[in-house]
Amino acid sequence: MPMADSPEGFSFYSERFLNDPAPDYAWMLSNHPVFLDKATGMYVVSRYEDVRGILCDTVSWSSRNDQVFNRTSEIANEIRQMYEKDGWVAIDTLSTNDPPQHKHYRALVDRAFTHDRVAAIRPLIDELARSLASRLADDASVEFIEAFAAPLVAKIMAHLLGLNPDDSPTFRRWTHLLDEVINPCLPPERERQITRGLIEMQHHLMDALKRKMADPDATLLSALANAEVAGERLTEEEILNIAIQLFGAGSATTVAAIGSAIKHLADYPEVCAKLRAEPDAIPAFIEEILRLEAPVQRLFRRATRDTRVGNVLIPRNAVVIVQIGSANVDHARFECPNLLDLGRPAAGRHLTFGTGAHFCIGNQLARAELASAVNTMVTGFRHIRLCTHANPYEYSPVFIFRSLKRLEISLRR
Ligand code: HEM
Repeated sequence: MPMADSPEGFSFYSERFLNDPAPDYAWMLSNHPVFLDKATGMYVVSRYEDVRGILCDTVSWSSRNDQVFNRTSEIANEIRQMYEKDGWVAIDTLSTNDPPQHKHYRALVDRAFTHDRVAAIRPLIDELARSLASRLADDASVEFIEAFAAPLVAKIMAHLLGLNPDDSPTFRRWTHLLDEVINPCLPPERERQITRGLIEMQHHLMDALKRKMADPDATLLSALANAEVAGERLTEEEILNIAIQLFGAGSATTVAAIGSAIKHLADYPEVCAKLRAEPDAIPAFIEEILRLEAPVQRLFRRATRDTRVGNVLIPRNAVVIVQIGSANVDHARFECPNLLDLGRPAAGRHLTFGTGAHFCIGNQLARAELASAVNTMVTGFRHIRLCTHANPYEYSPVFIFRSLKRLEISLRR
């Protein structure tokens, strides 16, 4: 099969693709599983086995892919100087690092972010979800993302990192900045503004970190600040970088997943009724939402050597867009892939949390937040529907995410 360019009219930023990527994914999976995207100059890889193969092979594929982030923007030097002067220059610790250094940092975070820690937070998640739901107006419409999903996730993140939960609007602002900075074509003035905001975030987290070093407590940030791997402690800059990654990787993603789950319940009242009657089906529902609506739709890897993917030889140093979103609906892996099937065997085999060395550290926490949000909404409201006006929801135009920035629903208890 000859390699193709992007399909006619295709753009990762088009409204059509943002609203419903399924038709383009079907084109890619069936006709051109590997193609060169003209707009980004990157190779796009779509099939489940190819995506999994790349994510598991850290020798041929590196996560150190500076090209993708705005470190190569036209004012990259100025931005670096801003961080050097007023904040801290980013260090490659987790998601932009490769083995063997990655393993060193990862071991430390794995040791601090345990299953027990997530289990211990579970009652707090349920309590916060109930409290937020109780404040949603009855028999009225609400914008669900800002009224429920975002504050729930922000407060849990604050708890994890030992920050003030009342600052959640500030955390939301930081989340937006972290999302926006991924955009490879930012106007210079906006890039300066974002950098100023992110430096403010660095100071806020560094202050919290110093407090935990001086006065350890039971928070994850404290565990990271005081943990040792092979007798060595991390530097303040390294812990700061990890804390920012936890914050960035765990916030917008989980908000997006909760938004997608509730949108599905509003679209399909029969699914909502089923979950209300059979709460044991909630974990299967969550896995299907994660599969069909993966918040991180694509990741990036750089070829460390000429490497063949399917029939295409990807040259050394080329950047590959690894499409989790399409892999999760590959009919070669999942039967009737675009259907939400509560009885799907091995539903958790989706690639929504990645796989291999960088497999998501926060997957259990995200699943717990999602389960709590869904359970609270289906038991708390007998009616959840999309608002009937012309445009009740909107996806955010962030290159790598599938994430509702607005979801207007009407609720009745
Ligand atoms: C539904 C919610 C979430 C989704 C869809 C998601 C998705 C992902 C994916 C796809 C990766 C792999 C990145 C790669 O291979 O380059 C990843 C890694 C990561 N995630 Fe998540 N994530 C979620 C929630 C969370 C939460 C709640 C946290 C922490 C509080 C978190 C922290 C991280 C970190 C630190 C990494 C980097 C791991 C490494 O490089 O070793 N994530 N996540």
